[in-house]
Amino acid sequence: MASESLFSSDLLSPAVSEALPQGYKIRSLRRTDYNTGFLDCLRVLTTVGDISQSQWEEQYDWFKQRDGSYYMLVVEDDKDQVVGCGTLVVERKFIHNLGIVGHIEDIAVSKDQQGKKLGLRIIQALDYIAEKVGCYKSILDCSEANEGFYVKCGFRRAGLEMAHYY
Ligand code: ACO
Repeated sequence: MASESLFSSDLLSPAVSEALPQGYKIRSLRRTDYNTGFLDCLRVLTTVGDISQSQWEEQYDWFKQRDGSYYMLVVEDDKDQVVGCGTLVVERKFIHNLGIVGHIEDIAVSKDQQGKKLGLRIIQALDYIAEKVGCYKSILDCSEANEGFYVKCGFRRAGLEMAHYY
């Protein structure tokens, strides 16, 4: 249980693994990632808050129970430190013949590791999972400042993001 992964390594793109810098690895999030740099990596993106280990485990178990819906992956450097992460959320629909849509969420690369194509590899790895699990498209919301990054990853502007905060 303690070393379990959120999803199977069969869903990890071999091409992405090969393209990473020497010694770096891509893998599923694990229940043991509380102290491996994952939360600090997310802090590059936004506020994470003060999450205790028991809260972490409870949340991880919630994701794990929803098998097939949450794919969270990390990039580890050559010192086994998490330096990048990204999530694919899989949404099943009635429309489009029971279509499946991927939502790309929470992409982050540690400040001192940016510019090494890790962000690109994370997106490629999530695209690979999305295709394998049957998504007909993946979509995401981002700031104008990140548009260029996603264009380089093969995305194009489509529609408008709106929000209602509670
Ligand atoms: N605007 C334009 N081009 C960019 C940008 C940008 N903001 N960031 C990277 N690129 C380009 C790179 O120059 C590179 O181009 P090249 O192939 O011509 O050399 C290409 O995109 C790939 O860049 P990477 O090296 O893979 O980018 P990096 O590893 O630095 O990751 C990321 C990019 C994820 C945006 C990183 O800067 C980051 O973590 N930023 C802070 C958190 C953030 O904003 N995350 C995205 C939130 S949106 C969401 O999660 C859906």
